[in-house]
Amino acid sequence: MKNNILEIKNLSVGFNIELNNIENFFYALNSINLTFERNKIHALAGESGCGKSVLINTVLKLLPKNSLVKSGEILFNDVDILKLKDSEFRKIRGRKISLIPQDPFMSLNPLYTIQNQMLEVLSENSKENIEKIKWALNEVRIKNIDNVLKSYPHELSGGMKQRVIIAMSLVQNAELILADEPTTALDVSVSNSILNLLLDLKEKGKTIILITHDLSIVSNYCDTTSIMYLGDIVERADSAELFKNPMHPYTKALLNALPTIRGKRLENIKGQISPITDIINGCKFHKRCSNEMEICKEKKPSLLNYNCHQVSCWLYKDLT
Ligand SMILES: Nc1ncnc2c1ncn2[C@@H]1O[C@H](COP(=O)(O)OP(=O)(O)OP(=O)(O)O)[C@@H](O)[C@H]1O
Ligand code: SF4
Ligand SMILES: [Mg+2]
Repeated sequence: MKNNILEIKNLSVGFNIELNNIENFFYALNSINLTFERNKIHALAGESGCGKSVLINTVLKLLPKNSLVKSGEILFNDVDILKLKDSEFRKIRGRKISLIPQDPFMSLNPLYTIQNQMLEVLSENSKENIEKIKWALNEVRIKNIDNVLKSYPHELSGGMKQRVIIAMSLVQNAELILADEPTTALDVSVSNSILNLLLDLKEKGKTIILITHDLSIVSNYCDTTSIMYLGDIVERADSAELFKNPMHPYTKALLNALPTIRGKRLENIKGQISPITDIINGCKFHKRCSNEMEICKEKKPSLLNYNCHQVSCWLYKDLT
């Protein structure tokens, strides 16, 4: 089996947006290259609007109608999912690749009991499948399983709903789990227990991509960290290395803004992330960067390897 479960190559995605009565195409992802090693937890972090959800919605083929994948490949177990027909991809989405959303209520049907919707995932109401569901609910440390199976989603707390969603990925035996800010809506203790469940999933051989605003959880739970800014990967490294030795000024600013950057302006850097309709020449971070140089306004730096880091920043041009 190949070591990488997912390889994203040269992926560019954008949206047709009407601006001053004229429709134009604007990029939300620019030539993204990322590899995800099997059986690890990978963090994807950055401020609101940097393209995290667009990236995972592209992997799940859940992009809205006004979007367009301009270029690239997304290899899942060596198969380019962008080339698959919708009918072929339906065998992968939810089965081999599953999503843990920010709001679990969105993924659960309010009209069905938990038992019915978990059985629907397995497409058959059999004694064996009911046992499988109970096993999965037990694995996510739900105690009163019989009561939970009879409940409707609105009768469960946010943390319990999120456990049910994780149990669903277990019964489907998904290999790759995309978790889009799965703990943002939860309080700290529940949030920690859900993150510990992600560690359990890794122990079971799953690969997880965890999208987060909160770098404080990344160091404890994630093996690698990729930092995004306005549709670009600006830094990538093993999490321990990235926390010990952050290189990109944006990563440094995010780390200084700990414990959380959701909804709050980064105090140590000026300005805010721009909308994708703003065309910025050179390094997209240059207007906010305290290390800005002349070249930064003119030419975009490439993502290059420096020892165990990948960084796109002109500060390191002499190290190559
Ligand atoms: N359907 C759409 N039409 C136009 N622009 C869009 C659409 N969906 C997303 N965008 C834009 O793409 C950019 C990236 O959005 P995305 O949702 O991926 O951000 P994010 O990093 O997930 O942010 P958050 O942390 O708030 O969830 C944003 O500028 C957003 O406004
Ligand atoms: S390339 Fe220049 S502007 Fe961009 S992050 Fe590096 S120093 Fe700052
Ligand atoms: Mg998002």
